[in-house]
Amino acid sequence: SQLKTIIQGIPKAELHLHLEGSFEPELMFEIAKRNNIVLPYDSIESVKAAYKFNNLQEFLDIYYAGAQVLLYEQDFFDLTWAYLTKVHSENVVHVEVFFDPQTHTERGVAFDIVINGIHRALEKAKTDLNISYKLIMSYLRHLSEEAAFETLKASLPFKDIIDGIGLDSSEMGNPPSKFKEVFKASAKQGYKLVAHAGEEGPADYIWEALDILKVVRIDHGNRCLTDGALVKRLVDEKIALTLCPTSNVALKVIQKMNEHPVAKMLEKGIIATIHSDDPAYFGGYMNENYYQTAKALNLSLGQIQQLAINAFEASWMSTAEKENRI
Ligand code: HPA
Ligand code: ZN
Repeated sequence: SQLKTIIQGIPKAELHLHLEGSFEPELMFEIAKRNNIVLPYDSIESVKAAYKFNNLQEFLDIYYAGAQVLLYEQDFFDLTWAYLTKVHSENVVHVEVFFDPQTHTERGVAFDIVINGIHRALEKAKTDLNISYKLIMSYLRHLSEEAAFETLKASLPFKDIIDGIGLDSSEMGNPPSKFKEVFKASAKQGYKLVAHAGEEGPADYIWEALDILKVVRIDHGNRCLTDGALVKRLVDEKIALTLCPTSNVALKVIQKMNEHPVAKMLEKGIIATIHSDDPAYFGGYMNENYYQTAKALNLSLGQIQQLAINAFEASWMSTAEKENRI
């Protein structure tokens, strides 16, 4: 369709992508086989059939199970490289991607194995595909702040290749305030800060992420529209939201795409942006997220372009780098 051609033609930046969430069943089977791991599924079709979720936690249980087959540096390279070649074909020219070190270190895979594989793929994409990148290390919020501190410590030898810190996993009952001290310590190390907030959790968690963690962007942030003062704060301080529409439908954060808040957010002057979150699990990379949103909400060409521009604006590229990319 014409809309798809337009979206393909726009250079895009992806700012909300979990590398572990880009793990396609085909690659999962391939890596399981070479690592002599038996998956609890007998075919790629039966894996895909299991990807039906009623909430964030049901997804997370399957997402962490899938990551268990990743053992060696080459596995992390292959995972990252598959994502980068895919988005390259969609005209994504800049990525700021998350990885969850604790998903791997908790089961005995060393931090350096994980990050070296990821970093090698990102560097190759920079050279071979002209994709620029930043790397964001996320703390798992269902684990303790002490465990996050251990992760911070493990990251320090790799400080030069990690740009920022994120906060993901089970939101309800794990408010941003739980990680106040480790975010403060992370900022002292020079890391930039973001956090998932207001996906399933209330607008209060977005306030906490801003006031207590001092984040510069909010991942998701869907729930902000329930709070007028918060909307004003986001607009006044140019705090971007990294929205993930197909994720929101898959996890029932919204019931249908035509209920997605992104159009209202743009109207209110919020720097709203669109990303894929965990595309292997939610069935859509960047272009599909733009397409489904634009179609369901009847977005104008101007609004679609605004979403793409917003992502470059909200990215961590320098002004000079941005001019080079758009
Ligand atoms: N929310 C919280 N944690 C996550 C997500 C998400 O959308 N994706 C991967 N980890
Ligand atoms: Zn996410």
